Amino acid sequence: MLVKIEKLDNQGRGICYINNKITFIPNTLPEELVDIKITKETSKYNEGIVVSYQEISPKRVEAICPFYQKCGGCHLMHMSYQETINFKKEKLVNILTKYAKFTPNISFVPSPKTLYYRNKITLKIKNNEYGYYSPNSHNFIKIDKCLLVKEEINTFLPNIPKFNIKNGEIIVRSNYNQELLISITTNNKITLPEELSNYKVVGVILNNKLIYGENHFIDIINHKLFEISYNTFFQINNYITSIIFNDIKKEVPKHSKVLDLYCGVGTLGIASYNENEKLYGIEIIPNAILNAIKNSKINKIDNVSYHLGDVAKIINKINDNIDVVIIDPPRKGIDKKTISIILKILPKKIIYMSCDPITLARDLNILKNKYDLEKITGYDMFPYTYHIECVCILKLR
Ligand SMILES: C[S@@+](CC[C@H](N)C(=O)[O-])C[C@H]1O[C@@H](n2cnc3c(N)ncnc32)[C@H](O)[C@@H]1O
Repeated sequence: MLVKIEKLDNQGRGICYINNKITFIPNTLPEELVDIKITKETSKYNEGIVVSYQEISPKRVEAICPFYQKCGGCHLMHMSYQETINFKKEKLVNILTKYAKFTPNISFVPSPKTLYYRNKITLKIKNNEYGYYSPNSHNFIKIDKCLLVKEEINTFLPNIPKFNIKNGEIIVRSNYNQELLISITTNNKITLPEELSNYKVVGVILNNKLIYGENHFIDIINHKLFEISYNTFFQINNYITSIIFNDIKKEVPKHSKVLDLYCGVGTLGIASYNENEKLYGIEIIPNAILNAIKNSKINKIDNVSYHLGDVAKIINKINDNIDVVIIDPPRKGIDKKTISIILKILPKKIIYMSCDPITLARDLNILKNKYDLEKITGYDMFPYTYHIECVCILKLR
């Protein structure tokens, strides 16, 4: 069936209409004429794939990854990098206009490194081969390298079969010093390859139990040291994170009382520390709170108080006049109870960092009753994927 692509959706898929029903076709660009095959039909939408390209857009570039579109890790490799930035900026504006009901001026910062930037890879293991599942399926796609992850991780990948994992999952993280931290989940017995010492492997964790070395390592961003445990969150692109940390630091006035919600290993509060009168942090993962306490010490910050638990339950226990609240929630955004408590605390400034513009826009729509959006910046944390990171600066009216 021959169709003309009209525009892109938020995931970078081409949109066309078949008998007035919206139809999503990945790896297409506006104005392209493509012969497609429908792969999924529901009452509301269709999904399809390209059989052949009849007319291609001048904006199309050849994807440099041989696994592109099969593995599902990238979504925009058929565009030039500048086009991916234009797409993300427009997406952010559209989402905020639709869900936050205002159209702000947005600046968008590209990633200093657009390939080999990820400090972490999560791979499926099937019959002792490693790869990804293709999008929305359990179709295993064997890969031998990923152009998004750092070189030292790619160099290590050929050793994965030596662990004899058979079936399961492996996560490999790396740090500033090309050290590797490996976490494996499987029901099978595994072996530890002799070659581990050749690859700066600092630790191996099997089903949440340490079996080799240590369960954490140190990473460094902007001269700040962060201990990271195998199961704690850390931003995946250190190159753009360094810029974000600098930008956030400029927003924290000296001697403020700062509350860092969803603080992970303490990253944002510590990175933006400015002779704070006090720094509080709340986080739900026990190892992350232990890391945060250690990180405050190794970065020589005394006046901190970290709390383990659900932000919604713990935030009420912070009995102080908070000047700045830093919020960096998971994709689902801030829950309603927490927002209502923030609106009682009424800090002078809120710094809201988000990796999901839709939940961000939903939350801004509530916060805007008391706060003005002073600045919003998009950051390309995830080059060649449709994902966006952004930071909003909100000032109490
Ligand atoms: C996007 S990460 C941000 C972490 C940190 N701010 C950083 O930049 O590295 C979100 C963090 O929220 C934590 N988290 C998720 N749900 C939570 C909850 N209900 N209460 C407290 N922390 C939560 C996660 O464990 C994760 O560390």
